[in-house]
Amino acid sequence: MKFGYFDDQNREYVITQPETPLPWINYLGCQAYFGIISNTAGGYSFYRDARLRRLTRYRYNNVPLDFGGRYIYLRDDESKEFWSPSWQPTRHDLENYSCRHGMGYTVIGSTYSGIEAHTRYFVPLDENLEIWQLTVTNRRAVKAQISAFASIEFCLWDAQDDATNFQRNFNTGEVEVEDGVIYHKTEYRERRDHFAYFACSEPGAGYDTQREAFLGRNRGWDKPATVEAGQLTNSVAHGWSPIGAHQVKLELAPGETRQVVFVLGYHENPRDQKFDPPGSQTINKKLVKPVIAKYLDAKEADAAFERLRLYWDSLLGIFQVNTPDIHTNRMVNIWNAYQCMATFNMSRSASFYESGIGRGLGFRDSNQDLLGFVHMVPSRARERILDLAATQLATGGAYHQYQPLTKRGNNDIGGGFNDDPHWLIVGVSAYLKETGDWSILDEPVPYDNEPGSEAPLYDHLQRSFRYSLERMGPHGLPLIGRADWNDCLNLNCFSDTPGQSFQTTTNKEGKVAESVFIAGLFVHAGRELAAIATHRGLSGAAASCLAEVAKMEEAIRRHGWDGEWFLRAYDDFGAKIGSKECEEGKIFIESNGFCVLAGIGLEDGKAAKAMDSVGKHLATKHGIVLQQPAYSKYYLNLGEISSYPPGYKENAGIFCHVNPWVMIGETRLGHGDAAHDYYSRINPSAREEIGDLHRCEPYVYAQMIAGKDAPSFGEAKNSWLTGTAAWNYYAIVQWILGIRTSLDGLEIAPVIPNNWPGFTATRIFRGVVYKISIERKGDGNHIALTVDGAPIDGNIVATPTDGRKEITVKGILSEGPGEPLPADEEEQFVPAK
Ligand code: GLC
Ligand code: GLC
Repeated sequence: MKFGYFDDQNREYVITQPETPLPWINYLGCQAYFGIISNTAGGYSFYRDARLRRLTRYRYNNVPLDFGGRYIYLRDDESKEFWSPSWQPTRHDLENYSCRHGMGYTVIGSTYSGIEAHTRYFVPLDENLEIWQLTVTNRRAVKAQISAFASIEFCLWDAQDDATNFQRNFNTGEVEVEDGVIYHKTEYRERRDHFAYFACSEPGAGYDTQREAFLGRNRGWDKPATVEAGQLTNSVAHGWSPIGAHQVKLELAPGETRQVVFVLGYHENPRDQKFDPPGSQTINKKLVKPVIAKYLDAKEADAAFERLRLYWDSLLGIFQVNTPDIHTNRMVNIWNAYQCMATFNMSRSASFYESGIGRGLGFRDSNQDLLGFVHMVPSRARERILDLAATQLATGGAYHQYQPLTKRGNNDIGGGFNDDPHWLIVGVSAYLKETGDWSILDEPVPYDNEPGSEAPLYDHLQRSFRYSLERMGPHGLPLIGRADWNDCLNLNCFSDTPGQSFQTTTNKEGKVAESVFIAGLFVHAGRELAAIATHRGLSGAAASCLAEVAKMEEAIRRHGWDGEWFLRAYDDFGAKIGSKECEEGKIFIESNGFCVLAGIGLEDGKAAKAMDSVGKHLATKHGIVLQQPAYSKYYLNLGEISSYPPGYKENAGIFCHVNPWVMIGETRLGHGDAAHDYYSRINPSAREEIGDLHRCEPYVYAQMIAGKDAPSFGEAKNSWLTGTAAWNYYAIVQWILGIRTSLDGLEIAPVIPNNWPGFTATRIFRGVVYKISIERKGDGNHIALTVDGAPIDGNIVATPTDGRKEITVKGILSEGPGEPLPADEEEQFVPAK
């Protein structure tokens, strides 16, 4: 069952009924001011940090599930009936309800009793504010007398404190109202230099700023007393719960349309100019007033919207593809790329599942996210890399997370996740391949943000690599530490205390438990590092790096192979995990996916065997589960993984983040059919038809789909902020379509399904437009390339040095370098639709 449809032309998903299985959200903002918005206008806004600068309130895990939002009410002042065009909070039966989630904006609207209303919500580029453009049309044959109300509830800045510290917070709330603009200034009197505001373009018929005055005693947002009565009370909040509510009266002739603009924003004053007049307690509004005035003008709002549209045109225009599969096209061209930008902006902070108060930016996660967005915003990727590297410790280890406002490592979580440092190599390598900007390696970057400890970024990479060399276990495999990629495989934790954190508790010294996954990652990162060294002319460094890689490969062959697949780990007793000898958890996805991705076992058949075993034991129709059999009980020596009921999360859930490792593994074996098949099983667009089972948004990936051991097999959870976005984008674009960045240029190596006649793509790479067409002339993956008509050797297209800004690349796929094709045949290729 579907709850809407894709409008690919407009790059929108159109939700056609308000009652989706879960709130289906979108993001507003892409620089500093952000919001999440659901299909019924639920959600909240914040400036930079979802915890410390929360502008509006949202009630997570409430009933109904999605509450607190950007709510508009319309009231027919003759019949006295009122409703919300976004369905929530009044929940009337609406006609033609639709929610269009687009690139950085959302439009929600409907018709009720002959009154059509839509609100377009978005954040203009380079501004710390959001615009709500409400358009109301009278579809009745007679004139209509309508009151429009717009409302938000302010959060007292620190979302954690706001939700807990009522003994203080019920006393601190303060607002000012000036020229019809509501200013929220809680704590501005003391150490805050920032405030929020909520403004309206039309002369107001009233406002409210105290929640109880607006809602009435013992009422909820579904039935505000003031809206019911048709008149706001001009309340001024002192303490309790400041809100912002505006009322506008609209008299509409039959067919007439009116627009009202609301602006909600954040502003920071210079500390020495906080008050006006100086010495008073009144906010200095001189700097903010022109901004407010500008965007209350509908023409300016339209122009800002147009700029946002162009911005997304240019971001998405960097890679566009046309394959025979609509789900591939739609995800690659629009939604997967868009989700990658959201994960870059948010990391794992604010979604419907991440409350915005929990996690900072993960070291591992942020590095992996680079794979998905570096081509869209290389300069911001550069900054992110340098920020991350600055939290690295002198040992080469990493804080598991850092806080975006302070850019410091998070001491509460600490480090010791022994895979973390290697991801920095992977991230930097992705950046170098995309940009060719070798200067980044010379950037001085401190360790643990300690002034004076600066060393070139390249030094950080070497320490990352050495980190594992200095932490080897009994089998010559890397020690796992607190955990590796799988945060929940906690082999040194041994926690028997309720509520204790699996992530921060370590009860064993950790000199025994080893990770085959980290071994695979070490091989992969080591090769990347060696290639970087070679490029810098450091052949000695490259050679010694490759020597360590070879040793590690040998250790994997000897101690990391179980006969039919790669082992997962050794526990603290030196016993195998992920082996046929185990009772549960005999085979895992991570070590198998990553070792094959790293090219381990390609020559001796181990890779092929491992992928076959994954197919046999882990693949399901909804995706590949993390391990089998699921752990049926809690194992003290395994930690959090066995804390989840079977089929959920890391205990045999379909962790969509790691499925792409297997897709890439299959491409390394030349299996385009298998790779694309796995890709399609978790492709959200391909799952749109089963929306009532899948339940999450069909336009973005979720972290997890319940595995076959769960009663809800096939149900997704934790959508939006997940490494799944970057990895799936990377797998489809760089490995299946095979348009791959390399240190030497753009590599073209498609491993596509056998029944695809080909595909076309446009890629803007290092300032040059590549018009690519691939045609299949036979089974197999051998590719013969021409560049602007001239055949080239190999499959790497070097960046033109003669000033050409656009080049045409044609590739012919066939079984092998056998028979050359007649030249005229090449011209007949018609790209697949
Ligand atoms: C979550 C974490 C990620 C981790 C994964 C597996 O997605 O954000 O860092 O690798 O879970 O545990
Ligand atoms: C929990 C989650 C896991 C996540 C970790 C990070 O353990 O289950 O998926 O990676 O938290 O904090």
